[in-house]
Amino acid sequence: MGSPRWKRLCLLLLAALTSSVLLYGHYYATVESPTSQRIIASLLQPQPLILASSGTSHRAGSHRWALGGGLERGKFFRPSTDLEEPKPSRQQPSTCPSSVMARAKADPKFGDIFLFDTPVLMWDQHFTTETWDRLKTRHVPYGWQGLSHTAVGSTLQLLNASANRQLFDRDSFPGGCVRCAVVGNGGILNGSRQGKAIDAHDLVFRLNGAVIKGFEEDVGTKISFYGFTVNTMKNSLIAYEEYGFSQVPQGKDLRYIFIPSDIRDYVMLKAAIQGRPVPEGSDRGDRPQKYFGPEASAEKFKLLHPDFLQYLTARFLRSELLDMQYGSLYMPSTGALMLLTALHTCDQVSAYGFITSNYEEFSDHYYETEKKPLVFYANHDMMLEAALWRSLHRAGIMTLYQR
Ligand SMILES: *[C@@H]1O[C@H](CO)[C@@H](O)[C@H](O)[C@H]1NC(C)=O
Ligand SMILES: *[C@@H]1O[C@H](CO)[C@@H](O)[C@H](O)[C@H]1NC(C)=O
Repeated sequence: MGSPRWKRLCLLLLAALTSSVLLYGHYYATVESPTSQRIIASLLQPQPLILASSGTSHRAGSHRWALGGGLERGKFFRPSTDLEEPKPSRQQPSTCPSSVMARAKADPKFGDIFLFDTPVLMWDQHFTTETWDRLKTRHVPYGWQGLSHTAVGSTLQLLNASANRQLFDRDSFPGGCVRCAVVGNGGILNGSRQGKAIDAHDLVFRLNGAVIKGFEEDVGTKISFYGFTVNTMKNSLIAYEEYGFSQVPQGKDLRYIFIPSDIRDYVMLKAAIQGRPVPEGSDRGDRPQKYFGPEASAEKFKLLHPDFLQYLTARFLRSELLDMQYGSLYMPSTGALMLLTALHTCDQVSAYGFITSNYEEFSDHYYETEKKPLVFYANHDMMLEAALWRSLHRAGIMTLYQR
């Protein structure tokens, strides 16, 4: 049984989701009136590759990966030539005999799904007329439909440091093989004693309600990246405060990965770089330092590219939910986006605290004191994500922690 406080919060979240569904419905009905099919068509248009799930049942293991025809490799995502793309030496380093890239390319199924030259991050040089015209036709998080040109442009303009163009500097890993752990918040980590193994990785990604204090033995303490949307970050601070998540992780070497799921994310990111209170919108008056610490600089923040989110959804997590009435609300979970980001940037990836086939044996999160069933949010497809992780693990492309 949950505490009354938890129940109240659930009701609150439900109410918020319901009202946003209604708002979305209203917006599309009155302003744009495309059918949801149109929205989905535009989402998938540039990526003819469809990852269809074969079953109608939503049981773990029911998903199969199927390839659609007419794959035009890299056509859509190739950046314009005058763009300064980072050229990390993704050639397989000798110290890294089984890199994600090598394994993925050699795999009969995933070889055609991964496109390692897809841009992962977005920075100032991406803000061109061509990109604006293309992205303004897709809704968030895949584009900028309905967002203000000034709001988006003035944020991107600030992402002008070399650190904004790459997740990490490969030169600082002379061994050449960058090993990453991505730590989800799943109950499987309770009592797991994986802390040392997690901290032994070169880089550690965490997200949302990443409680560390009191759980060091199970989840470790190292944190290189914290991933979130402003919405998930602020909800986590409310929902998991009772478990000790009273503050977003902070640290000198910690970098923040913004997922641009709403205009809020662009507005908060700008304020964070400028070190000023948020001037407008639903977070108006918020002081970014409260979340991200005293350092306000472009180097501290990374922004995922809407094209990357589109590519991930179309190729890796193309859910049946997209074909349903409120399909435009669907997006991969924060954990899924962080894990897929790591798979596109690191040489070796281990996933901890992500959904496994036997998820029902574990609590929703590792820090709950009484077992709570996993919450299935209406805008995510956890079963499809579970099938993807299992599939990537079996292909040897990443290691999924299971017990
Ligand atoms: C980035 O932009 C800021 C503000 O416009 C400017 O002060 C800074 O010098 C720029 N940095 C680089 C590396 O160009
Ligand atoms: C977490 O593990 C501890 C010790 O193994 C156990 O007592 C507790 O019930 C577990 N919590 C949940 C939510 O399952």
